[in-house]
Amino acid sequence: MTPLDGSSTDTTVTGVPRPGGPGVLAGTTISRIGYGAMQLERLHGDRSAAIALLRLAVELGVDHIDTAQFYGDGLVNGLIRDALRPADGVLVVSKVGADPNPGGRIPLRAAQRPEQLRASVEDNLRSLGVDRVPVVNLRRLDTGPGLRPEGDQLVDIDDQLAVMTAMRDEGKIGAIGLSSVTLDGLRRAMPVGIVCVQNAYSLVARADEDMLGLCLSEGIAWVPYFPLGGAFPGLPKVTGEPAVHAAAQSLGSTPSQVGLAWLLHHAPNVLLIPGTADPDHLQANVAAGTLALDDATLATLDAVPTRSADVPLG
Ligand SMILES: NC(=O)c1ccc[n+]([C@@H]2O[C@H](COP(=O)([O-])OP(=O)(O)OC[C@H]3O[C@@H](n4cnc5c(N)ncnc54)[C@H](OP(=O)(O)O)[C@@H]3O)[C@@H](O)[C@H]2O)c1
Repeated sequence: MTPLDGSSTDTTVTGVPRPGGPGVLAGTTISRIGYGAMQLERLHGDRSAAIALLRLAVELGVDHIDTAQFYGDGLVNGLIRDALRPADGVLVVSKVGADPNPGGRIPLRAAQRPEQLRASVEDNLRSLGVDRVPVVNLRRLDTGPGLRPEGDQLVDIDDQLAVMTAMRDEGKIGAIGLSSVTLDGLRRAMPVGIVCVQNAYSLVARADEDMLGLCLSEGIAWVPYFPLGGAFPGLPKVTGEPAVHAAAQSLGSTPSQVGLAWLLHHAPNVLLIPGTADPDHLQANVAAGTLALDDATLATLDAVPTRSADVPLG
């Protein structure tokens, strides 16, 4: 039966076949291939190109977009506000735990304290122009690339979950996810109801395989960031792996598409948010949803050694 909002399992609310097929996040059916908006910062000088990219994503069937207030100090949230309409039916997911740090070596600073998490949700509500952010990830600093907490930024996860659940009760956020979290942190948080985990993970950086398995058994979506290895130098890149190039050549696809297709094949709770500022790459990433990987190719890709993504950034 088609729900009243016009969406079905196989098509978006605007009637587009879902790239990667349907997945579920926070009880909502979405396309398994979404879009990570962080790379839009690079289009700060060309607002109309950034808006056009977001519109193209919607036209291609993307209805899950990942963002943060600290992407361009509110710039990316403002682009999403201006580009999207409620009728597009896009699930916007943001994150808190860091604040913008314009001009910094990396453009964010830790903001882990409960009052900072609350202030960051308020910033997101304002810049996105909404009454409620559908999903907010509590972005810890426990694992993965980048910052580690020091001093008063070392905050117990229970204190953070208390403010996150209070904001959910108040209706400011729809559901809670976690990011850059350890297996222990996830286990401690699960009783409050965690809908997704966003850790750095890709075909070439699979340290969190046990956590992915726990998420699968608990019905929690696994939404890897850096699914291609990110844009920062020093991180292991999917496109740097010879086995990926060999598979791409025999499939007539690109190495990036193989990396994304492998993620979709790897586990049914995987949802993708590859980032790009390039419309051709966006189309290629969406098309990766049609790539079939046979058992032999999957076995070869599964055998690729995993490398650590725990590297400093910037
Ligand atoms: N929770 C967190 O802490 C956290 C941290 C980082 C990121 N994220 C989210 O995760 C999303 C994905 O991460 P990411 O954007 O950093 O890294 P990514 O998706 O792994 O890779 C992005 C890089 O790959 C390139 N690329 C994308 N599609 C391509 C294609 N089809 N062919 C060739 N190159 C391609 C992009 O360049 P072009 O622009 O030239 O295509 C960019 O350099 C972010 O956008 C953000 O929303 C979350």
